[in-house]
Amino acid sequence: MGLAIAHRFAKEGFDVQLAARRPDELERAKADLEVRYAVAVTLHAFDALDFHAHESFMASLPKLPYVAVCVVGLLGDQRANETDLEAAVGVMRANYEGPATILGVIANFFEARGSGTIIGVSSVAGDRGRATNYVYGSAKAGFTAFLSGLRNRLAKTGVHVMTVKPGFVATRMTEGMNLPPALTATPEAVAERIFGGYQKGANVIYTKPVWRLVMAVIVSIPEGVFKKLKI
Ligand SMILES: NC(=O)c1ccc[n+]([C@@H]2O[C@H](COP(=O)([O-])OP(=O)(O)OC[C@H]3O[C@@H](n4cnc5c(N)ncnc54)[C@H](OP(=O)(O)O)[C@@H]3O)[C@@H](O)[C@H]2O)c1
Repeated sequence: MGLAIAHRFAKEGFDVQLAARRPDELERAKADLEVRYAVAVTLHAFDALDFHAHESFMASLPKLPYVAVCVVGLLGDQRANETDLEAAVGVMRANYEGPATILGVIANFFEARGSGTIIGVSSVAGDRGRATNYVYGSAKAGFTAFLSGLRNRLAKTGVHVMTVKPGFVATRMTEGMNLPPALTATPEAVAERIFGGYQKGANVIYTKPVWRLVMAVIVSIPEGVFKKLKI
């Protein structure tokens, strides 16, 4: 999803800074972006869990970006998370602690400048905890609440925060899963929606839009009924 988003912004002429744990593996993606869109692309080593390094990471960038997009996440295995606390903590940290801490630091840099857009990719899974993915979902719920608070804090500073809640997306994360086509987006479609939301200054977007309705229904089911359902 991250690369599709990078392509969408590069297509509009944005220079791109790609941050990842193994930046060497992004050399081909960098060359592709440069050739296609004639923009400058730089690669940066970054681990969202290494929060002590977040400030120095930001200070080391060749220039402070106008838009920061966080796609960090880990689906994990719900069944394993129920007994393997190491795995559960890994999912909690990758979906909440890492994304929230880096975006909190970026927010401070953007606030000092007085401009910028922060885009956090959360998930519909954070809208209601379900038996099949509540460790992941609860971390996303925390991240969604963090983004809401950050947006509220920065509303009068010139810094905008957009929350993205994808439903199913056909990426490496969902490889091999049997996803319903009507509810599944391509990374390119998600990128298109994110770019549209960015242009409009949207606060919260769902990808695909039908997920807003699906989740409104799921959230409105009374707890006494919901706990007996398998959805
Ligand atoms: N695919 C879906 O159906 C779906 C639905 C709802 C929400 N989402 C969310 O969308 C976002 C993008 O996911 P995706 O579908 O594109 O899957 P993905 O390809 O697995 O992307 C997740 C990315 O997070 C990175 N990451 C994980 N831990 C990190 C860390 N500690 N530091 C830096 N990077 C880290 C991974 O990097 P490595 O390459 O180093 O592992 C990977 O590039 C995630 O937040 C995901 O939870 C996905």
